[in-house]
This record gives sequence, structure tokens and C-alpha cells, in this order.
Amino acid sequence: MKNLNLKINNAKPFIGDDILGKILDKASKYLKLLESGNGAGNDFLGWLKLPYSEEYKDIQRVAKDIREHVDTVVIVGIGGSYLGAKAVISALGNDFNKTNPEILYAGFNLDGEYHKQLLEYLNDKNYAIVVISKSGTTTEPALAFRLLKKHIENKIGKNKASHRIIAITDKNKGALKQLADKEGYQTFVIPDDVGGRYSVLSPVGLLPIAIAGYDIEKILQGAKDIDKATGSSVGFGANDVIQYAAVRNSLYSLGKKIEILTSYHPRLYYLIEWWKQLFGESEGKENKGIFPAGVINTTDLHSLGQYVQDGERNLFETVLSVNKAKTRILVEEDEKNLDNLNYLAGKDYFEINKKAEQGTIMAHIDGGVPILNIEIEEINEYYLGQLIFFFEKTCALSGYILGVNPFNQPGVEAYKRNMFILLGKPGFSK
Ligand code: PA5
Repeated sequence: MKNLNLKINNAKPFIGDDILGKILDKASKYLKLLESGNGAGNDFLGWLKLPYSEEYKDIQRVAKDIREHVDTVVIVGIGGSYLGAKAVISALGNDFNKTNPEILYAGFNLDGEYHKQLLEYLNDKNYAIVVISKSGTTTEPALAFRLLKKHIENKIGKNKASHRIIAITDKNKGALKQLADKEGYQTFVIPDDVGGRYSVLSPVGLLPIAIAGYDIEKILQGAKDIDKATGSSVGFGANDVIQYAAVRNSLYSLGKKIEILTSYHPRLYYLIEWWKQLFGESEGKENKGIFPAGVINTTDLHSLGQYVQDGERNLFETVLSVNKAKTRILVEEDEKNLDNLNYLAGKDYFEINKKAEQGTIMAHIDGGVPILNIEIEEINEYYLGQLIFFFEKTCALSGYILGVNPFNQPGVEAYKRNMFILLGKPGFSK
């Protein structure tokens, strides 16, 4: 299988050779630092080993058991505890045919209506719950789990319910761990040295993905292959992790403060959401950081496209291209041609979409937008594994180049403190 391929020729003309050269040197050094485990946040580097873990065998066994017994599974989690799974499941899914079991999500917002509707929907479902929280104390999933626990216990009885709940959390700490031990739930551990947004290749992402019926071994294989192709022994000329981290930081230093990740495939919408969370929480600190944005085209060419083409020139774009279609759908010749579309007859939808992509890239370059391009052969488990690990590695490296710790998220606490004061949580006062 070919590896994903990064192209920077449409970004380089916007950066001087001297600037890029210096940052490439820095990036090479920082990749060595990341691998040596001596950089900032080095107690959170467990994700680097995840592609090589054998735990996937237990995960497959448990997933098989759940798949045999239920028609619906609710994944409860927020941020890094659900976005990776959702990214992969929706990328591999079908908008009009649900997976079997159907995968639903809860605890990623505080909207009562969403959760009320979910409980109503679950009334006549035979379901299981996977509750995921590393800290075990995050309000959004904890609250949703309280509702769901009650609902499933009322529906099938406390004893049976305890066999339908799986908790993924810390090995010792947190309210969820205590609850799981007390109620006898099956648990998987989120390793101490793996942060939420770097946890998709742990049980956090792999269990829900395996439950949805996808091949997690292929995901791990993709991650392993891209890891090998981007080790620090691979020189920067051939190392896409170094190149991507260096180019985006060069552009940032030249005032390009926003990166837009663009896909022409709506199935990648949640992959972009996951990427936004990964980079946003990792880099946006100490009043620094590229703002990660995302668009799905051609949909957004009829909305944000105007800004990208013509608005303030403070952005660059990373286009995620797919080389092969999974299915074909040809445009047929129409005798009357009243819609004037016969010029497209004989063409496949994928080809038309590709031309829209190429035409837009040309227009954006003319409009002064530096473009990076990440190409994958097709949307499947293997390439999703490559993309996940490629982005995680680049994100860590990019954070080091920027001079921040890419593994913490101190800013997330500010809203929580205010919310707890306003809600009267014990221990919190003005
Ligand atoms: O990346 C992160 O660390 C965060 O996005 C967390 O995943 C998120 O806040 C959820 O935390 P927890 O798993 O502790 O409930």
C-alpha cells in the first residue's frame, strides 16, 4: 500500500527558502526530541506506542460479544473521548443505512432536548452503553451517563444492565472508576500517559469502531506504516511529518494565522472536527497558535468559499484529497438536455468532484491562499489509521516548534470554574 502523500509546492512560493530552511532544521531537531521523550509534556507520550499494542485482540473479543447481543450502542464522552471514534465511524459509514449495531453518541453537550430525545429513541431499543472519560469527572458525560444508567436499569433491570455497560477510564482515579468497580462493569483502561485527544488508537477509539463493525487491525497497520515512514531517521526531504509541521509554522510566522482543512467528501466531516480538536487544544495557548478551521466542499464553496477566495489574507488551506472512489455513479445522456448538463454525460460524480477540487485549488492560489495537499488513495480503515497517526505526530511536533506543551489544555478549565460557581458545586465559590 502507498503511504499518504504531502505536497507543498503550492505553499512554498509564499515562504522564502531561508525561512522554510530554518524551520525545517528546527522541526528535524524537535522530532528527535519527541522520540527521545525529553520534550515538554513528556509524561504524555504513551500514544506513540499505541499502534504497536496487542490490546486490540481483547477489544475485538468484547466488540464481537456486544455486536451479537444488541441493536444499538450509545457512546458517552466529550472531546478526545468521542471525536476520534465518531470521525472513523462516520468516514466509513453510509448516510442512509445505519451500521448494525447503530452507534449513537451522548454526553458531548449539555442540551436537555438532545438527551431527552435520545432517551425516547432508546425506549424500544435493545442497547448497550460505552461510557468514556479519562478523568471520570467531566460534567457532560457524567450527567448523560447518570440519565442513561437509570434508563437502562429501569428497562432491563439493574443486574442485566450492569452487563450492558462498559466503562473506559483511568486505572485508579475518578468517580467513573469507583462507580464501575462498585457496579461490576467491564472496564478498559486509558493509560496514564495518553491524553484524551491522542487516545483514538487506544480502547477509547478502537472499541466503538470495532463495535461498529470496522477492522481495527487495518487502522493500526496504517498508523504503524506512517510511523515508520516519518521517524526522525528519515531526512526532512522525504519526511511528511517534518514537512507539514515546518510549512504550517513557516506560514504562521508570516501572518497566516488560520489553517483550513478542506475535504470534498462529506464523510470526512468528523475527521475534520477531530483534527480541529487535536490541533486547537494542543497549540492554542500562551496567546499563540494557528486557528484550526474546516470546510466541506463543494458545500462550503457556497458559504465560506467567498471568504477563502477574497477575504482577509490571513489563512492557508490544507486540502485532504482522495484518489479513488469507493463507488461509481455516472451521469447519463439526456435526449432533450433541457438542463444543459449533457456536457457531463459519461462522467462519474467522483471525476466531477475532482475537477471542482482542482479548479478551486487553482482559484485559491490565484487569490493568494497557500495550499498544502495531503493525498490518500481511498477512504478506508488503513488510510484513516495513517491520517490519525500522521496528524497526531505532526501536531506534537508543531506544538514544539511553536514553543508550547502540546499535551496539556489549561484553558479548558476556565469555563468549568465559572460554570461550577454558577451551579453552586460544593468547593467552588467566587
Ligand atoms: O483532549 C483532551 O484531553 C480533552 O478533549 C478530553 O478528551 C475531554 O475534555 C474529555 O475529558 P475526559 O475524558 O476526562 O472526560
